[in-house]
Amino acid sequence: MWLAAAAPSVARRLLFLGSPPPPLLLLLLSRSSRRRRRRLHTLGLAAMPEKRPFERLPADVSPINYSLCLKPDLLDFTFEGKLEAAAQVRQATNQIVMNCADIDIITASYAPEGDEEIHATGFNYQNEDEKVTLSFPSTLQTGTGTLKIDFVGELNDKMKGFYRSKYTTPSGEVRYAAVTQFENVIDRKPYPDDENLVEVKFARTPVMSTYLVAFVVGEYDFVETRSKDGVCVRVYTPVGKAEQGKFALEVAAKTLPFYKDYFNVPYPLPKIDLIAIADFAAGAMENWGLVTYRETALLIDPKNSCSSSRQWVALVVGHELAHQWFGNLVTMEWWTHLWLNEGFASWIEYLCVDHCFPEYDIWTQFVSADYTRAQELDALDNSHPIEVSVGHPSEVDEIFDAISYSKGASVIRMLHDYIGDKDFKKGMNMYLTKFQQKNAATEDLWESLENASGKPIAAVMSTWTKQMGFPLIYVEAEQVEDDRLLRLSQKKFCASGPYVGEDCPQWMVPITISTSEDPNQAKLKILMDKPEMSVVLKNVKPEQWVKLNLGTVGFYRTQYSSAMLESLLPGIRDLSLPPVDRLGLQNDLFSLARAGIISTVEVLKVMEAFVNEPNYTVWSDLSCNLGILSTLLSHTDFYEEIQEFVKDVFSPIGERLGWDPKPGEGHLDALLRGLVLGKLGKAGHKATLEEARRRFKDHVEGKQILSADLRSPVYLTVLKHGDGTTLDIMLKLHKQADMQEEKNRIERVLGATLLPDLIQKVLTFALSEEVRPQDTVSVIGGVAGGSKHGRKAAWKFIKDNWEELYNRYQGGFLISRLIKLSVEGFAVDKMAGEVKAFFESHPAPSAERTIQQCCENILLNAAWLKRDAESIHQYLVQRKASPPAV
Ligand code: BES
Ligand code: ZN
Repeated sequence: MWLAAAAPSVARRLLFLGSPPPPLLLLLLSRSSRRRRRRLHTLGLAAMPEKRPFERLPADVSPINYSLCLKPDLLDFTFEGKLEAAAQVRQATNQIVMNCADIDIITASYAPEGDEEIHATGFNYQNEDEKVTLSFPSTLQTGTGTLKIDFVGELNDKMKGFYRSKYTTPSGEVRYAAVTQFENVIDRKPYPDDENLVEVKFARTPVMSTYLVAFVVGEYDFVETRSKDGVCVRVYTPVGKAEQGKFALEVAAKTLPFYKDYFNVPYPLPKIDLIAIADFAAGAMENWGLVTYRETALLIDPKNSCSSSRQWVALVVGHELAHQWFGNLVTMEWWTHLWLNEGFASWIEYLCVDHCFPEYDIWTQFVSADYTRAQELDALDNSHPIEVSVGHPSEVDEIFDAISYSKGASVIRMLHDYIGDKDFKKGMNMYLTKFQQKNAATEDLWESLENASGKPIAAVMSTWTKQMGFPLIYVEAEQVEDDRLLRLSQKKFCASGPYVGEDCPQWMVPITISTSEDPNQAKLKILMDKPEMSVVLKNVKPEQWVKLNLGTVGFYRTQYSSAMLESLLPGIRDLSLPPVDRLGLQNDLFSLARAGIISTVEVLKVMEAFVNEPNYTVWSDLSCNLGILSTLLSHTDFYEEIQEFVKDVFSPIGERLGWDPKPGEGHLDALLRGLVLGKLGKAGHKATLEEARRRFKDHVEGKQILSADLRSPVYLTVLKHGDGTTLDIMLKLHKQADMQEEKNRIERVLGATLLPDLIQKVLTFALSEEVRPQDTVSVIGGVAGGSKHGRKAAWKFIKDNWEELYNRYQGGFLISRLIKLSVEGFAVDKMAGEVKAFFESHPAPSAERTIQQCCENILLNAAWLKRDAESIHQYLVQRKASPPAV
């Protein structure tokens, strides 16, 4: 029985039989052969349904304690289960309603304490709502009793519930593990009745939510350590790959005491296991005491893993371990507050990585990875508030999006900055202590932080969490004798242009202001709580610049008067503006251009001012925006001209970096080199292309193996400018690769190939046995983002294979990701209509909002192209005739 969509109520508990730490329940590992019919969700082909009415579970009967015995069969992919739950009937009833998905109940009974069993006579499954109603022939009276249920189910291949995960042993044999995904050792002895069975008993857990239960049955190796605060930490890896668990082990062992200290609450269990699962839909899942990961989010090979993988592993470990407190010890009251879990973990994972790896400069990367991503999505009319009402289970999948994660993390970062670290920590401790082993809502956190800081947290934060969007702050300045007078006004920022309409939403915006006197220090901090405000900055000389949003922490965009902007631009060229401020300035201008508030040509000119830029993250954001522009201009006949522009912008830094690491270089240099060479190679920069081909040849011939950090850019470059032979070599490298990281690296660049036949070959490959089910999405997405032809081919492929793809992910968030990656790049009005029409006849309830966002983006792209294509073209042509002096 799985309760992924269940109310995350901690009124439930699991009884863990037997001794030591590791989780719960009783597992019987056996070989039986019963195969049962699987209950499938009905996939209607009718028009998109209205939001389905949905009710939370009735409170008349509630569980006190679960004891669960499971007997998985890894040959037949079935399992048998016995549940024995202590329950309390709070109100007399003859029905028990519970969550249930994809299992068949054989028998069910309820025995009031000290009384006879009453057998349920009916099991009424409401499959769409993932519920079952047990009907009893007589009334269950108030009081406690025991609910017993025998059930069977299938170990499915959908990466949900209790499922099977395929893996290959070191000798090449295909085997299966049984794994759980419910969000949505041990005492071993032979089983008394059957010598072929092994019984594994697990200890009892604290009171916890059912979506955090996990168990894995399979063959794994592990590495182990004890953290400074005495917790036993293990990282489980595929057999023969224990070494690859060492990096994550080190991170986890450092992270546990860090959180213990930050929250001032110890880790609540005696042990934690981290395990790499071959077939895994999400990136990782925070099950209490047994965190499950995709292999690529946990395993690091010293030779074959690249720097960005290490960083990713560190972030994911930091994220999931934070949930052990924030999410597991205290669980959100309902899915409306999911953002609290995910937004908070997505913020604190950076704090943790900054602690473990200060050299990563990870907070700057937060801005390019989360903050700007959130603003992009949240500027759409089809965005949603952070706190969103959630009814039906299909709506839960829908909110695992950039609003809950990235906007959630961004507003917490703003809040942390507004409160200050000391009071923030104090408030966190109050919240976790007060609500431990209970449920909490967003307001509960605000209350604790308000008590700790004495600031109006609930009033400020509700403007950010209860309404969608964020403000654009317009600012102009006037020199008044020795002072600078600033006039600020706020209006909602819309991706389609200035906000029109009467009741413009308003935010309470913590604003910081810095000047060139000390670019790293806020000269003034204010809370903007009205539509318009004037502020006076004392003693600012006329030649000094003034900037808003120091550190790009406030969740707003800024539009400066032309005079103010003019004065800031030299700070980009001479690097006197801090990196994260340079990044923010460029990103604001880019989005203003996209919204039609300024001209795109103005932004291209600003981009040219980054000639001296040394910072990886600043480049990464610039590169991302140039990528968006390239995709847009692939709809025109001057695509080549924008590639020339890319080459001009990136070649000075490319030359400075060269191909080989210099002594003393670190993590960020490695990331920067990969980014710049990839960008130049993709744009067809001649010298880069030649060197990439040479190094690729040496790599393939085994003369000189490419360093892990250079593989992605080299693969991408040779594929994009290569032929069928290059693709075949890449596919061969894919087949030979032992590490999933290497397979993924190759899968992600395959879409760069340009020839129509090869594009088709890549799409077919995406659905083949060679690609793990969770990775199909990035292969098809890569094709859509790879070229103009690829975009069309990928869309056609999705339409042609819709049933298989939908069925593969059973709705779920991967289908939303697939749709987004595949259709967002279109820039012709009629494509929005085509996409909409397709999904009207092929509904995907959990992706409904994503589809609306995609259609909106297509229309925005089309409008942008109509508005600016001509002037961009003219600028690029004129610039080629007389290149700007560097
Ligand atoms: N709780 C989520 C996992 C999850 C996601 C379960 C979607 C069900 C549906 C987990 O804590 C998480 O956020 N995982 C992230 C990785 C993280 C580092 C951002 C993921 O899977 O992408
Ligand atoms: Zn999470």
